[in-house]
Amino acid sequence: MNDAHDNGVLLKAEGLSKDYHDGTRLLRVLRDAEIEVRRGEIISIVGASGAGKSTLLHLLGALDRPSAGKITINGTDLSAMSDQQLAVFRCRSVGFIFQFHHLLAEFSALENVCVPGLILGRGFHEIHPEAEALLRSVGLEERLTHRPSKMSGGEQQRVALARAMVNNPDLILADEPTGNLDTETAEVVIKLLWGHTREKNKSLVIVTHEPDIAKRADRCLRLRDGRLIPE
Ligand SMILES: Nc1ncnc2c1ncn2[C@@H]1O[C@H](COP(=O)(O)OP(=O)(O)OP(=O)(O)O)[C@@H](O)[C@H]1O
Ligand SMILES: [Mg+2]
Repeated sequence: MNDAHDNGVLLKAEGLSKDYHDGTRLLRVLRDAEIEVRRGEIISIVGASGAGKSTLLHLLGALDRPSAGKITINGTDLSAMSDQQLAVFRCRSVGFIFQFHHLLAEFSALENVCVPGLILGRGFHEIHPEAEALLRSVGLEERLTHRPSKMSGGEQQRVALARAMVNNPDLILADEPTGNLDTETAEVVIKLLWGHTREKNKSLVIVTHEPDIAKRADRCLRLRDGRLIPE
């Protein structure tokens, strides 16, 4: 939106905090975390299990709201938007690859990839060939009509990858996208994510437990004690 004024910064989060209330206990997961993501940049995020990596990604992808702090994407302050506006914004600007796929069980691979486009109001005839091409590019041309329950974990993860890319979003948030994959399939997924980001000058934030993947990013940040620090 504000290309001329943002110095190439796509996403900026300041003073980000997230508390969960568990009965009488207060769990402070994020405390004053800061992150800036530039256009074309790939950032990896590492940290112990339970450190808050998925929580952080959900906030950056507008799937949840912070307890405190401010997130700006493409010059838009997310806190100023209604839930309805956020849903549209998310669909247009963010591709999310969840830690556990979250594909729709009743839909085929092809239909799952079409969903974000349909939500944006794009016609089925426009979105269908794009979704099919994306599934081919992740090696799933033989699985177009399969439902998730009839696919392996790695195949489901690749459907999720195609779904995240279908609206050509400025930002892809990937939560351990290779967590359940063998080395060879993991490499396919990483090459696709990196290729998409580099070729289109998009941005990628990837959470990973694998040091070799974390190192391939432009920058690696560690989430510790609720804050992000350079690795
Ligand atoms: N909805 C919730 N309500 C209460 N506590 C939650 C909720 N979601 C997450 N938590 C807690 O917040 C902490 C951070 O969870 P999160 O899923 O962000 O960790 P993570 O860094 O992604 O871990 P992993 O590497 O295992 O995926 C954990 O202690 C978790 O139990
Ligand atoms: Mg997680």
